[in-house]
Amino acid sequence: MFETPLFETHVGSPRNRVDGRLKVTGAAPYAAEFTAPDLAYGYVVSGAIAKGKITNIDTSAAMAVPGVVQVFTHQNRPRTAWRSGAYQDEVAPPGKPFRPLYDEHIVYSGQPVALVVAEDFEIARYAASLVRVTYEAEKHQTDVAKVLGEAYVPPKKRSGITPPPKPKGDSEAAFGASPVKVESEYRIAVEHHNPMEMHATTVVWEGGGRITVHDKIQGAQNSQSYITHVFGLSNDDVRVISPFVGGAFGSGLRPQYQLFLAVMAALELKRSVRVTLTRDQMFTMGYRPDGVQNVALGANPDARLQSIRHDLIAGTSTFEDYQEATVNWSVMLYRCDNATATQKLVKIDTYTPADMRAPGAPTGLFAMESAMDELSYKLGIDPVQLRLRNYSEVDEANGKKLTSKELRAAYQIGAERFGWARRNPVPRSMKEGRELIGWGMATGAWEAQMARTAARAVLTADGRLEVASATADIGTGTYTILTQIGADALGLPMEKVTARIGDSSLPKSPVEGGSWTAASAGTAVRLACDTVRQQLFKYARGMDNSPIANADLAQVAFQGERIALISDPSRFVTIADAMRAGGVDRIEAEETAVPDKLVQARYSSYTHSAVFVEVRVDEELGQVRVTRLVDAVAAGKIINPKTARSQILGGVVFGISMALHEESMPDHNLGRFMNHNLAEYHVPVNADIHDIDVIFVEEQDELASPIGVKGLGEIGIVGTAAAIANAVFHATGKRIRELPITIDKVI
Ligand code: MOS
Repeated sequence: MFETPLFETHVGSPRNRVDGRLKVTGAAPYAAEFTAPDLAYGYVVSGAIAKGKITNIDTSAAMAVPGVVQVFTHQNRPRTAWRSGAYQDEVAPPGKPFRPLYDEHIVYSGQPVALVVAEDFEIARYAASLVRVTYEAEKHQTDVAKVLGEAYVPPKKRSGITPPPKPKGDSEAAFGASPVKVESEYRIAVEHHNPMEMHATTVVWEGGGRITVHDKIQGAQNSQSYITHVFGLSNDDVRVISPFVGGAFGSGLRPQYQLFLAVMAALELKRSVRVTLTRDQMFTMGYRPDGVQNVALGANPDARLQSIRHDLIAGTSTFEDYQEATVNWSVMLYRCDNATATQKLVKIDTYTPADMRAPGAPTGLFAMESAMDELSYKLGIDPVQLRLRNYSEVDEANGKKLTSKELRAAYQIGAERFGWARRNPVPRSMKEGRELIGWGMATGAWEAQMARTAARAVLTADGRLEVASATADIGTGTYTILTQIGADALGLPMEKVTARIGDSSLPKSPVEGGSWTAASAGTAVRLACDTVRQQLFKYARGMDNSPIANADLAQVAFQGERIALISDPSRFVTIADAMRAGGVDRIEAEETAVPDKLVQARYSSYTHSAVFVEVRVDEELGQVRVTRLVDAVAAGKIINPKTARSQILGGVVFGISMALHEESMPDHNLGRFMNHNLAEYHVPVNADIHDIDVIFVEEQDELASPIGVKGLGEIGIVGTAAAIANAVFHATGKRIRELPITIDKVI
């Protein structure tokens, strides 16, 4: 695909984040920090019932507060909005997206029912408390467990989401005939993303109907497209900028309601407007869905799987069929002739669930890998051995070859680093002081995807390179790896390379998600730089008396701002001289990285991990501590071992969080989540996190993506909760099948 290989100086080496200084000094601007002259502030009034309709909204008291500019409700919202129906954004599931302030109907608790706009935030907040809303409530249902009988197979698949595989063999008969079996139900808690940065939008009124929108979003062009469709504007009217994102974990994939409200108010008032949500309101958006999972495994006494069955019924909203890949992993991973996986939905009166941190995989593999652990005890075989005994070299869900799979090495290297061989397999056999010690493990997997992405490269005669794409950096290190790739492609120091992203006016990119950004935007940058490289080389070779006149591209190296003969580096042309010879002062190229259809037809591609965990459990207090964790990850080429390790650390922390802490608590009586802040919604603090050891297992894979990258934004969370639950069993003899593992479940 590429003309010549690169001499890699930066790619593959640990590098500090190029945006690190901006971030730690507070100089990196977030959506609610952009400002404009005459900025007005919006505060959202959240609805109080789960289902029914608004019979009256009295805004008179709010309007009477000095400094209040306008109160928007469904009654006075501009008719221009929603003219073309409910626009489905880039990652919308099948259905009819929620439209804020569309009409009097209430479809979930916390739904925005009014926006108060005032001269400052405090006035808006106070006036919002004076808006009186009267409702006519209908009977709601928010409890998935109560409507399992209404489960349905979603009529439309969600684009980009792999549906459950076709059944293999006869899992029911094989299960019945299996001498060793396990069968259980698993639940997880609903979780809300809760990034540090609350959702916010600052709309700058540029005059003449044009707006610049600073939005908290994982894809500036997704917001831009949403706005232009909803308000009937053109791309020239709307520029969306989102250079920094203060965490998102999927909550920034789809435009959130504050974007609509802020743009609506700005267009109507012909004035700049900022709308920020409160922490409380972060619980009125999408969430990781709860579901009831059933896993049944049958095996022979020689520990070979005879039957796999994994069924899920998950909640979705009444208006969209949200789907994520939850049950697929159980079939895909292990060799087994009889396997069935099904996924159904039930409609409840909440907002639509949303992609969150490896959507589906940590949920499904919590169930499957817990069941595998349970099976290992019934068989009397080591849990790692059980997985190796059923190891597959293909995608068991569809029979396709894999682009690469170093999971076997991950098990071995991870086990060795952890000291797994010293494990006494008997539950409750390891103790120190008053704490029981448990060692558990699990497998992790995630799709290695690539998405069509464009990038531009501009090299100027002063040896500076700018690479640009509309993609985002949600804290993942995108700025840094694109800088590394650009620098190596043209032989520049990183200081001379600037990466520009998070701007809808840049070359087209999908949202940053699914762990595909490094593979996709990275390849696009590499392609654009390659085109620049070839042009530059032509100029250098064509120069009068060129020292590299007879060379071809494969015989030169771009290093130290020079193009030099590999065989004799004293013969070189500088970038400046090459440009002068070409009579140009800049070389610009835009290229698009496109996934290879042939490869996709023949292969599946996944990242894999082996997670090993030590827990210490104080049985009297019911307290579980994850004291040691080794995550061996096979994710193809690692562009930057430093930022890559941080990605896995973050994922693992969220895995610990899923296992022990996070829980959105619904009050089904009110049809509402009761957590309102981070005191009631627990995430790990520093004292909860101990020793985490990240290992990258070597893996070569030019099929997953042309630059060999598989992506690792999400794999860190996958398998971690299962490994912890398995360790808790080993420590205590208690099999906990419902997350989070809180004190009440341990005691
Ligand atoms: Mo990720 S849940 O695709 O941001």
